[in-house]
Amino acid sequence: MRAGTGAVFDGAAAGYDLARRQLVPPFDDFYRAAVRAIPHGREDDIRVLDLGAGTGLLSAFVARAFPRARITLADLSPRMLDVARQRFADEPGRLELRVMDYAEEPLFGEYDAVVSALSIHHLDADEKRELFRKVYGILGEGGMFVNADQVLGETPETEARYREAWLRQVRERGVSEEDLSAALVRMREDKMSTLDEQRAWLEEAGFRRIGCWYKDYSFAVYGGYRQD
Ligand SMILES: C[S@@+](CC[C@H](N)C(=O)[O-])C[C@H]1O[C@@H](n2cnc3c(N)ncnc32)[C@H](O)[C@@H]1O
Repeated sequence: MRAGTGAVFDGAAAGYDLARRQLVPPFDDFYRAAVRAIPHGREDDIRVLDLGAGTGLLSAFVARAFPRARITLADLSPRMLDVARQRFADEPGRLELRVMDYAEEPLFGEYDAVVSALSIHHLDADEKRELFRKVYGILGEGGMFVNADQVLGETPETEARYREAWLRQVRERGVSEEDLSAALVRMREDKMSTLDEQRAWLEEAGFRRIGCWYKDYSFAVYGGYRQD
């Protein structure tokens, strides 16, 4: 199953960034909301883990907002991480790249923020619950987790509205049929959960001050804090 996800993203790595702005209609607001949720000052020397970092899009937003941050990028796909390595070629000292399956493997280290974008929806419900527990365990005191991801509509009607709005918006943005077909293939791997389900799993994992800080149809930015 996971080998499938890795292979799908290995295949998509080369043209991935170009298609992103079309395929994620609220692109800038969505990624910026994730970074704004990190409760640190610009000059803080923070440690950040990006789960499912891919080509490093979210990490790049984090790196710009926090120039002293040290960022670990974890991903299943070596080819996506190769693109990330090129993206950060001028500042290699700030980065650590880890090829890993964050659902299957233990997480280690201690972080001020664990972030993720558009990745955790590839896990099923039990895997998300377990991942939220593991993330809680690697946060330092007061650390926080922020996930910018796609959530399932609370009802079939809401989900149909989300899907319809997404298709309309990406077509308005002029997505090529090739990119759209490739995205639809990748979406077959999706195992989305509702925001309410995920809030409950965050709470169960120990997170407090759980919030949703941005939402545009299925695109949501949510998470919580470790509280000792
Ligand atoms: C849609 S891409 C998002 C990449 C990046 N975060 C972004 O915002 O552009 C999803 C990424 O999650 C990775 N991924 C999915 N499941 C994973 C897992 N269990 N462990 C590690 N990486 C995973 C894929 O390889 C892919 O690079």
